[in-house]
Amino acid sequence: MTAPKYHLTSYGCQMNKLDSELVESRLRQRGYVAAASETDADVVLINTCSVRQHAEDRVWSKLGKLRIRKRGEPQLVVGVLGCMAQEHKRYLVSRMPHVDLVVGPSAFGDIDDTVEKARAKNQQLATGRDPARTKHEVVGAGVVAVDQGVSGDLIRRDVRVRPHRSQAFVSVMRGCNMPCTYCIVPTTRGDEVSRPIADIVEEAQRLCDDGVTEITLLGQTVNAYGRDLTGQGATLARLLRELHGIPALRRLAFITSHPNFLSAELVDAIAELPKVARYLHLPAQSGSNPVLKAMRRGYTVERYLARIEQLRQKAPDVELHSDFIVGYPGETAADFDQTVAFLRTVGFAQSYVFKYSPRPGTIAAELPDDVPDAEKERRNAVLLAAQEELTLAKNRALVGTTAEVLVEGDSKVAGRFSGRTAHHRLVHFAATDRELFGQYVPVRVTEALAHSCVGELLAHDAAQEGRADPAEAQRA
Ligand code: SAH
Ligand code: SF4
Ligand code: F3S
Repeated sequence: MTAPKYHLTSYGCQMNKLDSELVESRLRQRGYVAAASETDADVVLINTCSVRQHAEDRVWSKLGKLRIRKRGEPQLVVGVLGCMAQEHKRYLVSRMPHVDLVVGPSAFGDIDDTVEKARAKNQQLATGRDPARTKHEVVGAGVVAVDQGVSGDLIRRDVRVRPHRSQAFVSVMRGCNMPCTYCIVPTTRGDEVSRPIADIVEEAQRLCDDGVTEITLLGQTVNAYGRDLTGQGATLARLLRELHGIPALRRLAFITSHPNFLSAELVDAIAELPKVARYLHLPAQSGSNPVLKAMRRGYTVERYLARIEQLRQKAPDVELHSDFIVGYPGETAADFDQTVAFLRTVGFAQSYVFKYSPRPGTIAAELPDDVPDAEKERRNAVLLAAQEELTLAKNRALVGTTAEVLVEGDSKVAGRFSGRTAHHRLVHFAATDRELFGQYVPVRVTEALAHSCVGELLAHDAAQEGRADPAEAQRA
């Protein structure tokens, strides 16, 4: 019998991407192989995101197409995984009979069993004598809606299943306990649960033994890591120090940080540990105090600025990245102007900008969504343009300097590779030797673009001599 083929599409944040890797590793251990395309797959899985309506709409439309496909292929197994599975499980189970499995983010531990069960049911149904009747019963019974089972990050991970030779994500905590009024994540992912330091270090060590040199730690509020592990002294700063001791590790990043937990201890760790990435993703969401208060973010503009001032004093080379929401209920044009000014004051190196999207069940969804879409669109464009201006200026300042780039793979432009600096800047350069993938190479920046830099590869063994840091690099 030929091996069953799966196809998995992932939406959403890095945690979802990591969960997808765990799901894939489970399926492969079970003898499944990746299909060349979705149409070629026996099992179609979608790992979903609920953070904005647009993310959900893409999945609803995909499910519509799969419903049609399944009419001709009743054996096809369709699975909805992740945040929408958690958020819409009732609807998916009761109204979408073509969906065979609905698996929330805390139930990936036995995903392979779940898929097997659904496949067995569908095969039974396809060979049954009374398909119409059986379909309802069998598929109904075959739907597996699970939540709060075994979390993906508690599975002993198969470190070989990962998209990059040198890079890996490691989940340090799941869930979120913050009260942000607009956000669905605490509902879909549940309460904060931190993993013990020893487990994380063990996983990181196994990854590094297998060739990983860059690890990015993941948590929705990653710098609040450990606060639920009372009495263990587990903090992100301590975790960074422990991981820093792994000799093969060269870069250590962590996302996403919350301004309220940028402690002096963490600032010291960032300043003192040379392997720690030179960027901090510290979403501000808004630059207006009334909006921050309405969002229940727990800080003011002044407090945010004070916190980053401490960071800048001790680690002046660290760049800041942010997320912003525009068009939150009640956000006035004047509030928005303050956000633009704030973005410039901080001088973020990169920002994601999102139009506010009401999420049913959240506190903000009770408020009138009173900023018209055209105005949200305008604010979105203005803020992005302000950020692009800043990013371009920062990229221009790099022209002529040499940066150490971890080569990630082919660039969109043929004949070029792309990689990232310790500051997470994307750099493209002409190269053909695919042996460079996963290696650290020196690249001299020759051109600045709005979202990336172009450079030229310098003699390769220079990379082994140590880290070239763009902020410290000498002008050539
Ligand atoms: N835990 C992270 C990110 C969570 S979701 C943090 O707190 O920073 C990623 C981003 O999506 C958020 O930072 C926020 O900018 C955006 N976001 C969350 N809910 C949203 C909503 N309802 N509408 C628009 N953007 C939203
Ligand atoms: Fe959502 Fe706020 Fe938690 Fe981030 S910190 S995941 S924005 S509730
Ligand atoms: Fe989306 Fe869930 Fe991540 S809602 S942003 S996939 S935690």
